[in-house]
Amino acid sequence: MKIDFKEFPLILAPMAGVTDIGFRSVASSFGADATVTEMLSARAMFHNPKKTELMTLTTAEERVKIAQIFGHEPDFMVKAVQSDLLAKFDSIDINMGCPAPKIVKNGEGSALMDDLSLAGKIVSTVKGATGRPVSVKFRKGHKTENFMDFAAMCEDCGADFITFHARTVAQGYSGKADLEAIAKVKAKAKIPVIGNGDIVDLPSLEAMKSTGVDGVMIGRGSLGKPWLFAELKGNNMRVDKIAVVEKHVALLREHFEESWLKLYIRKHLLWYAANLPMAASLRLKLATCEDIDECLEILRKAFVSA
Ligand SMILES: Cc1cc2nc3c(=O)[nH]c(=O)nc-3n(C[C@H](O)[C@H](O)[C@H](O)COP(=O)(O)O)c2cc1C
Repeated sequence: MKIDFKEFPLILAPMAGVTDIGFRSVASSFGADATVTEMLSARAMFHNPKKTELMTLTTAEERVKIAQIFGHEPDFMVKAVQSDLLAKFDSIDINMGCPAPKIVKNGEGSALMDDLSLAGKIVSTVKGATGRPVSVKFRKGHKTENFMDFAAMCEDCGADFITFHARTVAQGYSGKADLEAIAKVKAKAKIPVIGNGDIVDLPSLEAMKSTGVDGVMIGRGSLGKPWLFAELKGNNMRVDKIAVVEKHVALLREHFEESWLKLYIRKHLLWYAANLPMAASLRLKLATCEDIDECLEILRKAFVSA
């Protein structure tokens, strides 16, 4: 399946340690038109295939399935896109925006914004190695704000679309995404541009739309609130929130060990609880609860009395 840019797609952003099979699936059930895995190391895919296997689980509920890879060695990136692990994905995204120091120090993620020649080689080699659409996700810049040149490079090297999170690496997640920068990239680009940054409700979606972008990617606004996709599509359905949480957990339970899951799921449960009354005492209860079913019971009661 391909992204339909005529329909102004709403895409669930890749989020490491967050966009697991359960979360991607519940976001899809509320209308996310495409979903992206957590970033996958092209190298680790071969050293630790089990970990990648778990990160690349998908469900039929997901529409356009995108795998995001990162790395700095074109050969490994090619092997990654051609591996069986990624065969079920409709589209490949290359991470050239990650600001995490442990990634940047290896010349990967946003560090590639400082090396247009290597970044271009990666895009063209990956594109040449797969018949699927290839996209690049990047920021305003790492050492310099070279997003215009970078976007042009992606296009020249064969990217099918680009996703622009308009913050510099130094900014991290502070300040606001620069919508003017997004409008500038869109005005020049011949390929579709996906706008990303700070979409949390209809007004922020409208602000992003005013840049002329062809679709949007949504990350933090959907944490604990995968029904945001329905709200943004004007679908004010009644949401059975505890059923959403239960479905998210059940999908994870099918694949992950309970001992690992009870630690992992806590952050999601805290996000789901974030906007409930008595959030502080609820947070404390969830943060100290050792058993997933007990946590679900605490949340169920909180949703009922909200
Ligand atoms: C917890 C977390 C993990 C993230 N992991 C990734 C990742 O794996 N790959 C990536 O390209 N961006 C990653 N991002 C960045 C998001 O995809 C997105 O670009 C950013 O959060 C801005 O969008 P938002 O304002 O809608 O959250 C991550 C963000 C967060 C908060």
